[in-house]
Amino acid sequence: MQPVKRTVLVTGASSGIGRSIAQNLLKQGHIVIGVSRDCRKFTRQMENFSPVQLDLSQLSELPKKIFQLQQKFPNIDAVVFSAGLGQFGSVEEFSYSQIEALMTLNFTSQVFLTKALLPALKRKASSDLIYIGSEAALKGNRKGAVYCASKFAVRGFTQALREECGKSNVRVCLINPGMVKTAFFDHLAFEPGDHDSNAILPEDVAAAVSYILGSREQIVIDEINMSPLNKVVKFKK
Ligand SMILES: NC(=O)c1ccc[n+]([C@@H]2O[C@H](COP(=O)([O-])OP(=O)(O)OC[C@H]3O[C@@H](n4cnc5c(N)ncnc54)[C@H](OP(=O)(O)O)[C@@H]3O)[C@@H](O)[C@H]2O)c1
Repeated sequence: MQPVKRTVLVTGASSGIGRSIAQNLLKQGHIVIGVSRDCRKFTRQMENFSPVQLDLSQLSELPKKIFQLQQKFPNIDAVVFSAGLGQFGSVEEFSYSQIEALMTLNFTSQVFLTKALLPALKRKASSDLIYIGSEAALKGNRKGAVYCASKFAVRGFTQALREECGKSNVRVCLINPGMVKTAFFDHLAFEPGDHDSNAILPEDVAAAVSYILGSREQIVIDEINMSPLNKVVKFKK
């Protein structure tokens, strides 16, 4: 039997986890619509790939922009929410605007995007919403109050949304990776240790996404938690 060809919207497709997911899906013959704030980052023209420029932090613009996106790509039947930002520090170190911005990108924008796309997804024979959470969605950590809150919020949202979609063909899944070797750490004071066993690779998360999309339509994979074999955090000098 021919594998089903999906049309997948991937946010954060310009870098790290989202980029790897997009590349893997394209390799498997799916159609990918990749979101970035700056489409010049997509340097290679690829068959079956369409770039879309969208700043997910601009909440007031989102309903209109997503409507336009759906007009252009009516066949979307899966969404991978990988856009996000890592910002760490004590609550007192965060400014009020940083708190608002982190919650907006990591949580509220995902809810807006979901709300806008859900009616059309419910009309498909089968569709998937796959969110990239984090190990920070499972346990609060020092210096992670706001980041963890944003990821806990995503986890609560997906649990409730799964119930909400329980009578439809929409499947809701959350992937919670530990440290993944990406540009996420470029502006942070720490990163995974140097050994291969200290970090997940973006390709590992991409493989999990493909597993979810390829799973039998009559089951839902609720959550996947992934960790490096040996967790080592290296502080930059
Ligand atoms: N790396 C890790 O250790 C790790 C672990 C657990 C969970 N995660 C989660 O995985 C997701 C992806 O992280 P990553 O490691 O792949 O980081 P990354 O390499 O820094 O990629 C982040 C992506 O988010 C996009 N993005 C940022 N702000 C945006 C905005 N306002 N509008 C639209 N897109 C925006 C970026 O695209 P543009 O800059 O092109 O707009 C980029 O493609 C995040 O949700 C992160 O919290 C990461």
